[in-house]
Amino acid sequence: MPIQFQLYDMLTKPHMLDGVWKLLCRYDHAFIPPLSAREHSYQTDLTVRPTAKQEPKQYFETLKRQSFLLALDRDEVIGFMSFRTHFVSEDLNDGIETIYVTTVIVGEEHRGQGITRRFYEELAEIAKQENQPIMTRTWSTNDSHIRVLNKIGMQEIKRIKNGRGPELDTVYYRK
Ligand SMILES: CC(C)(COP(=O)(O)OP(=O)(O)OC[C@H]1O[C@@H](n2cnc3c(N)ncnc32)[C@H](O)[C@@H]1OP(=O)(O)O)[C@@H](O)C(=O)NCCC(=O)NCCS
Repeated sequence: MPIQFQLYDMLTKPHMLDGVWKLLCRYDHAFIPPLSAREHSYQTDLTVRPTAKQEPKQYFETLKRQSFLLALDRDEVIGFMSFRTHFVSEDLNDGIETIYVTTVIVGEEHRGQGITRRFYEELAEIAKQENQPIMTRTWSTNDSHIRVLNKIGMQEIKRIKNGRGPELDTVYYRK
C-alpha cells in the first residue's frame, strides 16, 4: 500500500498522537539542542544546555496545539511535519506572517524517499490558500534538511552566528 499523506488542523486520534510521540522520543537527540531541552517549538534562545536524560514532554505539549501533516504506512506514523499558520518570528522582527514549520521527522528506514519533500509540497498548497510564505529554521550543520530546503527553492534569510553553540548557527529559510 502506498504511503498516505494526511493533513490535521489538530491531532486528536490517540494512535496518531502516540506515533508522533514515539518519533519525538526516538529522534530527540538528533536535534540541536535536543527537543527535550526546549520549552516549546519556537523559542528564541536555543543555546540551552541539555540537562539530565529526560523525555520531550513539554515540547510535545506545545506540538499538540499545532497543525500536522502525517505520512502514514497503513496506520503507522512513519513521519510528520508540524506547523503553525500566522506565525511572526521574534528573531526576524519583520512583522511578516508565515506558515512556520516547527518540526519535521522521518523514521530512518523511510528517509531519502522524498517524504519531506512531499510534506513541503503539501504545505505549499496551504501556503497558496493562506497567502503566506513558508518559513522554517534549522541549525547550520543539518545537511539533510538543508539539502531538501535548497532543492525546493527555500532561501536562507537570516543566520544567527553561534545561535546554538560554537560553530553552530541558527539558519532561517523562507519561500
Ligand atoms: C531531515 C529529514 C526530515 C529529511 O527527511 P527525508 O524524508 O529523508 O528527506 P527527502 O527524502 O524528502 O529528501 C529530499 C531530497 O534530499 C535527498 N536527501 C535527503 N537526505 C539526504 C542525505 N542525508 N544525504 C543526501 N541526500 C539526502 C533525498 O535523496 C531527496 O533528493 P531527491 O528529491 O533528488 O530524490 C530527516 O533526515 C530527519 O528526520 N532527520 C532528523 C530530524 C531532523 O533533523 N529534522 C529537521 C530539523 S529542523
